[in-house]
Amino acid sequence: MGAMDRFARFPRVLLAHLPTPLEPLARLTADVGGPEIWVKRDDCTGLGFGGNKTRKLEFLLGEALAEGADTVITLGGVQSNHARQTAAAAARVGMRCELVLPRVVPREGDDYDEGGNLLLDRLFGAHVFVVEDEAAAAREVQVRLAAAEERGAKAVVHPPGGSTPTGALGYALAALELCSQIEAGAPSFERIYVAASTAGTLAGLACGFELAGREQPLTGVCVAGSAASLRGDFLRLAGETRALLDLPADSPDNVTLTDAYLGAGYGIPSPASLDAIRQLAQREGLLIDPVYTGKAVAALLDESAARPGIGPLLFWHTGGTPALFAYRDELATGPRSGAS
Ligand SMILES: Cc1ncc(COP(=O)(O)O)c(C=O)c1O
Repeated sequence: MGAMDRFARFPRVLLAHLPTPLEPLARLTADVGGPEIWVKRDDCTGLGFGGNKTRKLEFLLGEALAEGADTVITLGGVQSNHARQTAAAAARVGMRCELVLPRVVPREGDDYDEGGNLLLDRLFGAHVFVVEDEAAAAREVQVRLAAAEERGAKAVVHPPGGSTPTGALGYALAALELCSQIEAGAPSFERIYVAASTAGTLAGLACGFELAGREQPLTGVCVAGSAASLRGDFLRLAGETRALLDLPADSPDNVTLTDAYLGAGYGIPSPASLDAIRQLAQREGLLIDPVYTGKAVAALLDESAARPGIGPLLFWHTGGTPALFAYRDELATGPRSGAS
């Protein structure tokens, strides 16, 4: 059975523009004066400003629709990309979307509380419930489920980030997509850098490269907690996803986790991530975000400067750009980067 055939038995709705582009970042590479740097453009997956969740939602909503669900309930921070992409996907497939958004980031202000992803959630017609904290969110989900039952609806609940084994299938398939692009002439990558929060993207990629028989080193850049805690989530999710794909249970993984670029915490931009945002915008015209991808690029830049002789590196761009508009204060000011 070929690697792709293993996905045939999972219900899937086609939502994303695939394959996503693979592009060299020549001017950034020249800036760093080290390894070639490339980008995999999952900010271009299409639906609702794009991002990594669209790949997960193809399988998550495929499963939900196959179970006859008409309502999707999910959770995330106030500026959650996952919530925004779920709202867009639900609109596309005609499901009711309910978003329970705990205030997990110590930040307020009109831009953050009304703009960016939250503006888009409402524009996609989602029912939005902003609550104080995660305990309140857990209670609110029960209230939503009871209300759904009351009106005779069939609701599914997706965890933050859509990180279930079913969601991770989207990234197992993405790994095979990259392998095809490499077979078609793109370089092999010494290491891939990806922002990691609930570990579904990383677990999916690790399983996909295993399925392809490719030893692919991956660095998960922690943006929501310590490497130790994320390792636990990653191992559990990778184990369950391997089982779904009939992969051997105990295969070693090529995954390194680093929390050295987390800064003050989830949703709080670090100076390095703000510099990375400006550098990519002004050197490559490429937008990254202050919560996730800015920290992933900060890690890649730091490590490539420290090891100039290594081979090509890949930044897996997972999206997140609508959040730029929720962080206007930090981004509106600050230096031009290496002005040409
Ligand atoms: C833009 C972006 N990048 C990366 C991630 C991390 O993905 P995961 O939760 O699968 O680790 C997220 C998750 O919310 C995200 O929104």
